[in-house]
Amino acid sequence: MEKIVINGGKKLFGKVDISGAKNAAVAIIPAAILADGVCRIENIPDISDVTMMIRILNSIGAKIKIINKNTVEIDSSSVYLKTVLHDLTKHLRASYYLLGALLGRFGEAHVAMPGGCNFGGVRPIDQHIKGFRLLGAEVTEGNAVVNAVTECLIGSPVYLDTVSVGATINIMLAATKAKGLTVIENAAKEPHIVDLANFLNSMGADIRGAGTDVIKIRGVDQLHGCTYSIIPDQIEAGTYMVAAAAAGGEVLINNVIPKHLESITAKLVECGADVEEFDDSILVKSDGRLSRCNIKTMPHPGFPTDMQPQMAVLLSVATGTSIINEGVWDSRFRYVDQLSRMGASIKVDGKIAVIEGVESLKGAPIKADDLRAGAAMLIAGLIAKGVTEIENIVYIDRGYEDVVEKLNSLGADIKRITVRDPEAAASAV
Ligand code: EPU
Repeated sequence: MEKIVINGGKKLFGKVDISGAKNAAVAIIPAAILADGVCRIENIPDISDVTMMIRILNSIGAKIKIINKNTVEIDSSSVYLKTVLHDLTKHLRASYYLLGALLGRFGEAHVAMPGGCNFGGVRPIDQHIKGFRLLGAEVTEGNAVVNAVTECLIGSPVYLDTVSVGATINIMLAATKAKGLTVIENAAKEPHIVDLANFLNSMGADIRGAGTDVIKIRGVDQLHGCTYSIIPDQIEAGTYMVAAAAAGGEVLINNVIPKHLESITAKLVECGADVEEFDDSILVKSDGRLSRCNIKTMPHPGFPTDMQPQMAVLLSVATGTSIINEGVWDSRFRYVDQLSRMGASIKVDGKIAVIEGVESLKGAPIKADDLRAGAAMLIAGLIAKGVTEIENIVYIDRGYEDVVEKLNSLGADIKRITVRDPEAAASAV
């Protein structure tokens, strides 16, 4: 078992390069199944969710060439299996994109229910299924497997009852080679939706409107291979911005699209940090003692739910009382218990957290409850007095490339250690 150990209290200085976007990569890799030629995908983040997605494509017959740690070539001409088993899907939520991609390619997909971060409530996929059905697929669920089958996908209007990133992507994947026009209304507008549309269009798809709430997909018969570079990760960038603001110091965050970070920049400025935007970088300066603000998370371009735990850490040591209203997930405050152990004063009532800023946090043994909760624990460790040990770091590795190295290069005192798992040791006796 590995842990991350942080000796907190160091300000951060220097520059950090942001990797490719996880949530774009985990959609674009399965989308390559739709192409007849080879897709070369660059700026892929070197994280475990991507490794797992590549393993899934391998398992159904795709030929994958790893060019270097951030570039792969995918040849899907050899894909023959239309089934993805639970052993593979249990590791990541995005495995459900195999439904849209296989359905689009073969008119048939059998995919075990996805795993991924558990925020403590259900993560329904009714809107994905509704979309597939409207396109003409027969969808059944049994033994925790979703089966979608059709002779022919036919374009259709699809109105999403709730703004869903996953449903928007899955319906785009299925509709790209359907006959006729699909119009997704109330579509998600996240940067990774636009990136997926750009990738599909560079393979010959006809998708317009991505980034607005109406996406029009005119089905094409064939898609060809392409070379494509994934956008920078909005949430990784935001996490380093918040880390710099909370710990204090001066950090240049490189390889970003500042427009994607506007809601985060606005909140940091409101709290008193100094944020300067350049063409493809952002400079964050702070003395580490910020003031309160209120946050409501919303679909893009609102404040991203995936930045909510990190901001809660910053606000836990800000002056005054802050209120966070989680507007996307039913429950995403499990991490608060860990912060309380470090001295934070946070009360949670359903989707609302009320944070009374305290003078400082103190180092403690804590754990990552999910990926972004893990990112929040890293920031908590960076700003706390004393030593913080974080368990369950597999969650952090799902979404943050070289996080220990990147933070070290900014002057943090952070390392990864391997410890003997006491339970495994006991069962080995
Ligand atoms: N929802 C439904 N029915 C559906 C789908 C979603 O009711 O069929 C609801 C959900 O319960 C939730 C809301 O709609 O309340 C939004 O869910 P969405 O489908 O947008 O989330 P997702 O596609 O499962 C992606 C990201 C998450 C991120 C959310 C919201 C990926 C792989 N995951 O999840 O990212 O929190 O969008 O922005 O893209 C992360 O990266 O740590 C992460 C969890």
